[in-house]
Amino acid sequence: MHLSFSLFICYNLPFLLQACPIYLTISLDAKTVQDANLEVNWGPECHDHPEWIGIFSEDPSTTYVQPEARITDITNSSGKVLSDVKIGKLRFPPGWNSNDVNVVPSEYPKGKCLPYYVASFNGSELLTVECLKIQTNWMSKLEHIAQMPLKDLFIPGTHASAAYVANLTKTKSVLVKDYVVAQHFDVWSQLVFGMRYLDFSIGFDKIVDVYDSNNADNFCIVNENKLVRPLRNVLKDIKRFVKLSHEVVILDFSSFPIGFYKHPERHSSLLHLLHEEVGDIVYTRNTSTHEEAKPCYELTIDEIRSNNKFLIILYPVQELPYPESESKILCPNWKRFSTAFMNTSEALDNMRLLFSKKHNSPVQNEGWIFQAIRSMEQSLNNNKLETAKERAAILNPKVTSWLKGPWSLTANVVALDYFSNTNIIDVAIYANMHKAFNMANKNFVNFEIVSN
Ligand SMILES: *[C@@H]1O[C@H](CO)[C@@H](O)[C@H](O)[C@H]1NC(C)=O
Ligand SMILES: *[C@@H]1O[C@H](CO)[C@@H](O)[C@H](O)[C@H]1NC(C)=O
Ligand SMILES: *[C@@H]1O[C@H](CO)[C@@H](O)[C@H](O)[C@H]1NC(C)=O
Ligand SMILES: *[C@@H]1O[C@H](CO)[C@@H](O)[C@H](O)[C@H]1NC(C)=O
Ligand SMILES: *[C@@H]1O[C@H](CO)[C@@H](O)[C@H](O)[C@H]1NC(C)=O
Repeated sequence: MHLSFSLFICYNLPFLLQACPIYLTISLDAKTVQDANLEVNWGPECHDHPEWIGIFSEDPSTTYVQPEARITDITNSSGKVLSDVKIGKLRFPPGWNSNDVNVVPSEYPKGKCLPYYVASFNGSELLTVECLKIQTNWMSKLEHIAQMPLKDLFIPGTHASAAYVANLTKTKSVLVKDYVVAQHFDVWSQLVFGMRYLDFSIGFDKIVDVYDSNNADNFCIVNENKLVRPLRNVLKDIKRFVKLSHEVVILDFSSFPIGFYKHPERHSSLLHLLHEEVGDIVYTRNTSTHEEAKPCYELTIDEIRSNNKFLIILYPVQELPYPESESKILCPNWKRFSTAFMNTSEALDNMRLLFSKKHNSPVQNEGWIFQAIRSMEQSLNNNKLETAKERAAILNPKVTSWLKGPWSLTANVVALDYFSNTNIIDVAIYANMHKAFNMANKNFVNFEIVSN
């Protein structure tokens, strides 16, 4: 088995076989996405260096266009360089913008380039082309992906998923801007980019959301102990996305830091809200069959979608009073591991333990969540109070590069704050293609080895 495994790693990760893989990411050093710069990344294992890398607004393999920026002096085996090309106003293709109504979008099982390209050259010889892309329908890319249990997929996700504000320029509070906000992009855009796991901390409060005083909802997204926005509209966005894309999304209700202590009835009301907003598209366990005994991480995308269901809700069901605690639309939370209070070397050691899946690993054959995040408190330990963006700017590229090797095959859910400075979605999709290929060819491969 081990032999076949490594054999197929070589055959099926063409992006690793390229002389020098390159890709674009969005920097975290600007206040807003519009002002953010493109970063050019190369590696891992860029040995055959190109002479130069250019950024283009159109595909340079099909259209002759001048580069908007040129990067030379590519010497290391991997690197990241901030370009002076700004993102500007980011528009998705028609139908995929959150305010596009009555436009039927195209499906993009192979991803769709946004008008930001990066290409490497020797002189005028084009070597490689990549782009910043959206992955609206990646679960349909290979049919076998949909036949694998969720626990065997690499599912890219975000932490504190709805901790964003619509217009940062309007936000006066430094606390909110620098510490409470954890995402550049709203949940809608995260899903369009390809994220399929969302994490929510929920608070209960009667005084609602300063950004929308008309909203009378009591259930709000919380981050760093602050109420950020009402949950209801976030659920509406998720619902609209999955109805357009038919992708499966996992919603993880991970903590309830405000207003739930000794209030099980508020959990009941929240369950009621979930029924109201997304009840018709949540996978519902069928108690009349043996399926009931099957944990949700054993479900495949095909099984979830077979009745036009698209969401999996993870919830601490033990917090609910009976009989809601046995709600058929809720799955018990999966194991969660976080690097929030670790320094970089501890985080790497922790990943080694988790992703090895050896007998002493705390994760075995189950669904699990790896939160690659750093808490405010951890950055205080280093005697400087780094903002949420500064923390993600350091941690995200490291974790993503560690996940590009063999660990991509044992990863399940990986959740980041401010994910745009990584290519984690592409890394996850490639890993899934590879896993699906292995699954589909298992019998064939075993036969090959026996006959040799
Ligand atoms: C680019 O050209 C140089 C020689 O000018 C060569 O050493 C290098 O291998 C070439 N790189 C690629 C990726 O073809
Ligand atoms: C290349 O590596 C050297 C030594 O590790 C480092 O000092 C330099 O900043 C790196 N250059 C780039 C462009 O990453
Ligand atoms: C954000 O708010 C500022 C100040 O009110 C305004 O000038 C700007 O146009 C707003 N931006 C967006 C994208 O709505
Ligand atoms: C539950 O499973 C049984 C047996 O497979 C099936 O007949 C029934 O229609 C299912 N019920 C629902 C609600 O899907
Ligand atoms: C990380 O933390 C461990 C345990 O507290 C400590 O021994 C180690 O020196 C730290 N490493 C760095 C690079 O700060």
